[in-house]
Amino acid sequence: METDEIMRANGDVFMHRLKELTDEEKQLLESQNSRIIPYGKAQKLEKEAKKHWDLFYKRNETKFFRDRHWTTREFQELINFDSDVEISFLELGCGVGNMIFPLVKEGFTNFYFYACDFSPRAVEFVKANKLFDANRMKAFCADLTTDDLFDNIEEGTVDIASLIFVLSAIHPTAWSQVAEVAYRAIKPGGVLLFRDYGRYDMAQLRFKPGRKIADNFYMRHDGTRSYYFTEEELSNLFEKAGFEILMNTYVLRRTKAFRVNKVMRKNYSERKHEGVERDLAALEDKVATLDGEAARLAAIHADHAPAIHSKRDEITQAWQRLVQKAQERRTELESSYALHRFLADYRDLISWMSDIRALIAADDLAKDVPGAEALLERHQEHKLLERRAALLEKSSQRRALLEDAYKYQQFERDCDETKGWINEKLKFATDDSYLDPTNLNGKVQKHGNFEQELQANKPRVDEINALGSKLLEQEHFARRK
Ligand SMILES: C[S@@+](CC[C@H](N)C(=O)[O-])C[C@H]1O[C@@H](n2cnc3c(N)ncnc32)[C@H](O)[C@@H]1O
Repeated sequence: METDEIMRANGDVFMHRLKELTDEEKQLLESQNSRIIPYGKAQKLEKEAKKHWDLFYKRNETKFFRDRHWTTREFQELINFDSDVEISFLELGCGVGNMIFPLVKEGFTNFYFYACDFSPRAVEFVKANKLFDANRMKAFCADLTTDDLFDNIEEGTVDIASLIFVLSAIHPTAWSQVAEVAYRAIKPGGVLLFRDYGRYDMAQLRFKPGRKIADNFYMRHDGTRSYYFTEEELSNLFEKAGFEILMNTYVLRRTKAFRVNKVMRKNYSERKHEGVERDLAALEDKVATLDGEAARLAAIHADHAPAIHSKRDEITQAWQRLVQKAQERRTELESSYALHRFLADYRDLISWMSDIRALIAADDLAKDVPGAEALLERHQEHKLLERRAALLEKSSQRRALLEDAYKYQQFERDCDETKGWINEKLKFATDDSYLDPTNLNGKVQKHGNFEQELQANKPRVDEINALGSKLLEQEHFARRK
């Protein structure tokens, strides 16, 4: 992994480099140029964009896109909002609500949800969802390339808006209009959460000749379109519309898809606290000036010096308390952020595992090409899981083998040592110096010591014997030796 890459616990890699293409991938991209969609057909696709998406939902109903369970992990702005304050959330291009309903399930009870899409069928599916609650949700049709949105929502009232896999479906000439609509909807200090396909995503490389409309812009077989972005394109687009970019990276997912992730404008609690910190930094100079002023006044008005000093001390103490409280709040914010990040990672993994379990159990096959692509992609995830399990199994077998080898090497070493000791003692035992009658007392004494030593070493020899028998019983790989 390169030094500028960050890997998450769930395997996602965040990086700022464009994915490098292999020669084979370069050829695939080149082959797409052999048959470009003619201008007239491309224009027709643009005119009929809404129809194609509506037919998409007629065909696939709510079954195509998966719930976006990663949103609270990726977008801390969602969880960092104050839970006592009502938050207005707007999903731009909501489809059938795969972003908002997981948030409803997760208990974002202080959120009021607006969901819009230009496909009437998609909006109907949102309204028909069993989690749809008309008291805290409004779903409506709006075309983001026009001003429709503001028929249903007031300008500058949204705290958080999302644009998830929507911009890629829109013609590049209309992007600036979409970015502007989003900007007008969001209140100052609000955020726009963005995610979409990144340049050289696997899906981009899979397009065959006859699908390319323009550079990095393609038509799927059902007439819907898809663009693959770079970080720079997105930064330029949103900065021009007036946004401040908070985060903009490529995300390499487990399935090797390559996506761009973008968060704009800071979340409330941290943003508020940063304001407090800035005010405190400015006040620090004033407190220092006041200190100097107190010293000057006390020198001039010696009779009031004790009162002046007491006031100065009061201010200094209050100031120190304030600075400490601000530091405590920063630490609390940071630890709450870490906790939420951990919980979100945990939820994401659990949900991913249950998706995979469902996938393994399911026996349905796709009815069309995008369905087949989605199932293939999900199967790929399952395959990776299988490979990981196989790898773990292999690794545990290897560990057992290494432990066996270690036991065997210990056994060999102990045998060698004991053999050396026995040979040495044998020399003593077969010594015939007893034939010589001189110093018999000393020789008896020496033999006593010898016997004691034999006795003392008996457990060691027994232990080695027992270990040898155990290795044989366990069918150890070196039993023949
Ligand atoms: C790939 S889907 C993503 C849906 C949803 N955001 C999600 O993450 O599941 C793209 C959505 O964008 C909608 N869309 C495309 N162009 C649009 C436009 N000009 N105005 C509003 N919605 C549009 C489509 O109808 C479709 O529901």
